[in-house]
Amino acid sequence: MALSLDYTCLMSGGPQGALGVDPEWLAAAAAAHPGQLQALQGRRASGELGFFDLPDDRQTVAAVSDWAASVKGRYDNVVVLGIGGSALGTSALHAALSPGFNEVSPDGDRPRLFVVDNVDPALVNGVLRVCDPERTLFNVISKSGSTAETMSQFLLFLDRLKAAVGDRWTDHVVVTTDAEHGFLRPFATTHGLTTFTVPANVGGRFSVLTPVGLVPGALLGWDLSALMDGAAAGRERCLSADFSANPAALIAATHHLLDTKRQMDVQVLFPYSHRLRLLGEWLVQLAAESLGKIDASGAGVGPLPHAAIGATDQHSQVQLFVEGPNNKVFTFLRVAEHDDVTIPAPPEGLEGLSYLGGQGFGTLLDAECRATRLALTAAGRPNAEITFPKVDAYHVGEWVLWMQIATAFGGECYGVNAFDQPGVEGGKIATYGLMGRKGFEDERARIEAMVMSDGQFVVG
Ligand code: PA5
Repeated sequence: MALSLDYTCLMSGGPQGALGVDPEWLAAAAAAHPGQLQALQGRRASGELGFFDLPDDRQTVAAVSDWAASVKGRYDNVVVLGIGGSALGTSALHAALSPGFNEVSPDGDRPRLFVVDNVDPALVNGVLRVCDPERTLFNVISKSGSTAETMSQFLLFLDRLKAAVGDRWTDHVVVTTDAEHGFLRPFATTHGLTTFTVPANVGGRFSVLTPVGLVPGALLGWDLSALMDGAAAGRERCLSADFSANPAALIAATHHLLDTKRQMDVQVLFPYSHRLRLLGEWLVQLAAESLGKIDASGAGVGPLPHAAIGATDQHSQVQLFVEGPNNKVFTFLRVAEHDDVTIPAPPEGLEGLSYLGGQGFGTLLDAECRATRLALTAAGRPNAEITFPKVDAYHVGEWVLWMQIATAFGGECYGVNAFDQPGVEGGKIATYGLMGRKGFEDERARIEAMVMSDGQFVVG
């Protein structure tokens, strides 16, 4: 069984009322589909968009898996040092695919995972406190091999590791980086470290199916073959020339139309699944960095991606969603089959709760998903539903490709390049300047000359 998309309640005149996608607009989007598909296929054929071909790269899956098998049982902790596209996919897949809470498996074969994706001293100190270096593997991940956040973490953990285990530190570091560029590759070569490569033609936010996500995944025992099989199946459907059967093209077109024609520019991913909860954070980065751009006319475009979690956010954000500004489009992720747990019948004195007794927690979660969709629909809020037959590696892989290809189609709809990130690069360069990196002196002078506050509007 594959993922399914129901977009009835995104359409004008659907159950949610008039404010939706006009069928004529969608017909125009269908007419544009062959050209958009051809443009993406052309860039793929030129070798520019490597993410399309990752599901076929079973050689890398085998290499990563063999290496992980060779170190099985050696570590209680895997600490990923990375940020953005070098961290978010791993966190999302860990939540979805690693069983239970973040604990070492009873047989000691499956370690815990910590993704250190910030430079807050509280975070790095916390990881240092709970991870014994003797039992820890550090996977430093940076495609560029130079990102200040990741490099500073690496310097710290390397220092502590050397102090704790001496010359054996090389057994505790694995490097995932570009084949040539950056500081990490030559360092790894000099010290004979285990390394894996991020292909040059795969951007950070499209890289979860490269060693960026596969190395932690292999160490944590995710079913990488099923992940890639699902991704391959997702890719096949999302490259369909039949617009009406292509989930990625439909998602991109409906969301673009609601943004540009109805000013519904906030896109909420709303998984009703604890295990799928971090897919929203991964998608926020994918959509924001890919589509938030300046178009050919010089206008800043792109929707605001936003993450919510069901049922938790029913007690937080849903009030705003139902009654606040009607500027949002919702995508519910529903799980058809949970590994369910039955709610016991209530004891004497709690008879008022008998409607819950004997039902599954999964049934309750599903009812809440349906109820929230109904409430949004009744309030005239456009929403779609993607159903996961179950949460497993196959369907997560399928979803990853759906969203990556939907984002690629989104770039075509908005007329922007979905695969660069000039805004991110600007921030990185400014940080180098402020931190005194050699070669960035002009940047530092430029920043220091900027007056951010003259004190007039400051309190406290
Ligand atoms: O998607 C992107 O390109 C970015 O979010 C990068 O992943 C992020 O800036 C980290 O870059 P790097 O992997 O080069 O350290």
